[in-house]
Amino acid sequence: MDNLDWKNLPFGYHKTDYNIRYTYKDGKWGDLKISTSEYIDIHIAATGLHYGQEAFEGLKAYMGKDGKIRLFRWEENAKRFIISADGIKMAKVPVGLFREAIYKVISLNRKFVPPYGTGATLYIRPLLYGSGPEVGVKPSGEYTFIVFVTPVGPYFKEGVKPVNMLICRDVDRAAPKGTGIFKVGGNYAASLRALCAARDGGYASSLFLDAREKKYIDECGPANFFGIKNNTYITPKSESILNSITNMSLIEMAGSLGMKTERRQVPVEELSEFTEAGACGTAAVISPIAKIFDPDTNQVYEFCKDGKPGEATMKLYNKLVSIQYGDEPDEFGWISIVE
Ligand SMILES: Cc1ncc(COP(=O)(O)O)c(C=O)c1O
Repeated sequence: MDNLDWKNLPFGYHKTDYNIRYTYKDGKWGDLKISTSEYIDIHIAATGLHYGQEAFEGLKAYMGKDGKIRLFRWEENAKRFIISADGIKMAKVPVGLFREAIYKVISLNRKFVPPYGTGATLYIRPLLYGSGPEVGVKPSGEYTFIVFVTPVGPYFKEGVKPVNMLICRDVDRAAPKGTGIFKVGGNYAASLRALCAARDGGYASSLFLDAREKKYIDECGPANFFGIKNNTYITPKSESILNSITNMSLIEMAGSLGMKTERRQVPVEELSEFTEAGACGTAAVISPIAKIFDPDTNQVYEFCKDGKPGEATMKLYNKLVSIQYGDEPDEFGWISIVE
């Protein structure tokens, strides 16, 4: 793709040549279909439209210096996709089918994988929804599984640029025993009021608190939260946050870099003890947090006083990205090559 300005790609949708589709009917998955259309023909009574039977995933393919395309822990996305489907009573996509779909869609759209060194990646978006008609509230008998790809730029153009977050107490993205642990569209719809309010106020995202007591940190919009103090990587444990694959990986990496790690409830007041803080996820990679503002107490928590990310955050960021692009040996066994 000679006409794409790889270095200035936004984190947004760009048309590619092919997507992959499957249908689940009569209790079984059908064969892989390759489509060149960006559109779907959907039944007006599909449960995905009316009752929110929809789940998705997000992962990236990275072009290495050696010209090899790498995937980062795709099996974890496949497993989480099954957990999400099960969580809202949809047909599950077996790991083998998930693999077939993502490998095929990458191979077919190989020319859209951004070159090494541009900071851009190929974002892979698997999507599953109830496509059969129902009017009463019940699970669909039919499902559609689609995977499309789109080249995306880095979330923050200047590289790892520290961002500001706004604590949110008046909106919950998920209930304590609700769907927060599943990657389902409804959670994102529920988060939009808070996200828009944060963006309107000049913040990168809202920082959600636990829905039951509003005492503990949950997550930062579409990314998990971590804080660092005393050489310890600390990240919230909660029954209403998405289990981030990036966060899981950072916990392991922090351990291997000689840091202690804790996954536990994190009270809001503890923010004043952290020397560094960040948001992590596939899209955000690691976004260091400069400031967190609590509008109810008017308190400002600051983490990068000189405007630069902290040392531990940068160490983790560099190691993660080096593994993803194949610049560093994959000591954890997280990388798969797409031949
Ligand atoms: C709500 C939410 N939390 C956290 C994450 C980060 O998860 P991961 O690291 O698996 O991309 C995401 C993105 O997938 C998300 O949507």
